[in-house]
Amino acid sequence: MTAASTPHAEPAMDVDEFRDAAHQLVDWMADYMDTIESRPVRAPTLPGAVLEQIPEAAPESGEPFARLFDDFQRIILPAMTHWQHPSFFAYFPANTSPPSILAEMLTATLAAQCMSWQTSPAATELEQTMMDWLRQMIGLPAGFEGVIQDSASSATLCALLTARERATGDRVNERGFVGETALAVYGSTECHSSIEKDVTIAGIGRRQLRKIAVDENYAMVPAALEAAIEADRAAGLVPACVVAAIGTTGSSAIDPLAAIADICRRHGVWLHVDAAWAGSALILPDYRWMIDGIEHADSFVFNPHKWLLTNFDCSAYFVRDPDALLRTLSILPDYLKTREGQRVHDYRDWGVPLGRRFRALKLWFVIRSYGVRGLQDLIRGHIAMAERLAGEIAAADDFEVLAPVPLALICFRYRPKGLDEEDRIDRLNEALVERINDSGTAYLTHTRLAGRYAIRFSIGQTTTAQHHVDAAWRRVRATARGLIEAPAS
Ligand SMILES: Cc1ncc(COP(=O)(O)O)c(C=O)c1O
Repeated sequence: MTAASTPHAEPAMDVDEFRDAAHQLVDWMADYMDTIESRPVRAPTLPGAVLEQIPEAAPESGEPFARLFDDFQRIILPAMTHWQHPSFFAYFPANTSPPSILAEMLTATLAAQCMSWQTSPAATELEQTMMDWLRQMIGLPAGFEGVIQDSASSATLCALLTARERATGDRVNERGFVGETALAVYGSTECHSSIEKDVTIAGIGRRQLRKIAVDENYAMVPAALEAAIEADRAAGLVPACVVAAIGTTGSSAIDPLAAIADICRRHGVWLHVDAAWAGSALILPDYRWMIDGIEHADSFVFNPHKWLLTNFDCSAYFVRDPDALLRTLSILPDYLKTREGQRVHDYRDWGVPLGRRFRALKLWFVIRSYGVRGLQDLIRGHIAMAERLAGEIAAADDFEVLAPVPLALICFRYRPKGLDEEDRIDRLNEALVERINDSGTAYLTHTRLAGRYAIRFSIGQTTTAQHHVDAAWRRVRATARGLIEAPAS
């Protein structure tokens, strides 16, 4: 075969075509941000609607970019839920910001694999520094070292794996659970579902996850934790890890960390702190009470990709003993050895995946663009809006707030006078949430608290202002009262 006939791919775009397309996209991105409020928050899409518009197999020949972009606007966009809409009050936020988006553009262009120092020295050293900036910003004691993970679920998995190895003298990594005493893990009945998933992935077994009782504020009861640990010990199990939640997903309850840390210390149990959403609020010094006792924790995770203006994904995982994490996760085949050895951080050993994106860049851009004060103002603003809304809900005689509101999540329900049948109240509130979401004007989700349906109103989008909250609350009231006048079929 001659050189001339060697098969090669024609570039789909040369650099000039890329430049034109990229400029077009940047204009579109700015317009999208500018006009996002004209879109329905939750996608008004039926299952299968996108599937039926996309060919079942890949095209044989390349297509021009203009056609792809048309299809993006025609097929994809109408079926997107707009997470950055200021009336997005569902789940927890996954907010972003212009500096973060710009950093993501650069990250995509560099397209570096940041698995070891040598494969991207700047990415590694910026990550080291950004983790220490964050550590200081949220008031974690010196000595904690951080790494960016894709998600809190992955970080908690790392915590459980490390705790498992500590509890078994590093034996499970070597020979599996053969001959081992069963381990036990503890979280409250309100702990996030990722804990259960991670317990199963770590091989500890779902049945060994103890769901500890909560108090009337949905926070873990320390005495119940201690009793469970003692009962497991007496039954011959090895208590391996407690996961304390700072900001549960259901109602943002804050587990009493100091008391839990004391129990963990006395019983020699690993303490992992899951502050996935609420951790961002620790940049406000007056909220540091939430982590009293943190100096005794072994690991801590929070997600700047939830509430700190940094695009998904960016989860900050901190550990007090990096060597324990490295002992648990590092594997060094010949092809990954580099001459720098232990003089540098090779973040591939600090988490599950080998390959890693350059995620520190967006943190750097965000923190420098807003400054700590700008980020504090944003979070204070969200908390103030939540406090005001909680007050208005509490004052309405046909609504009730169902849990304390320490931060920016309000759990509430509609409870018209004279309606006492709990199942009917549940169904009414379910219909209320569906009506609001179908209207496209706001997006709310729900949970169950003490078995009852609760509407979650979570405030945390970058551009959410008081008038968005007011408008959503007005609509909730009007829709609820309309439901009673014309009940849902
Ligand atoms: C308390 C808590 N923990 C863990 C998670 C899981 O986070 P991720 O999606 O980063 O895995 C969430 C998600 O909302 C959460 O609220």
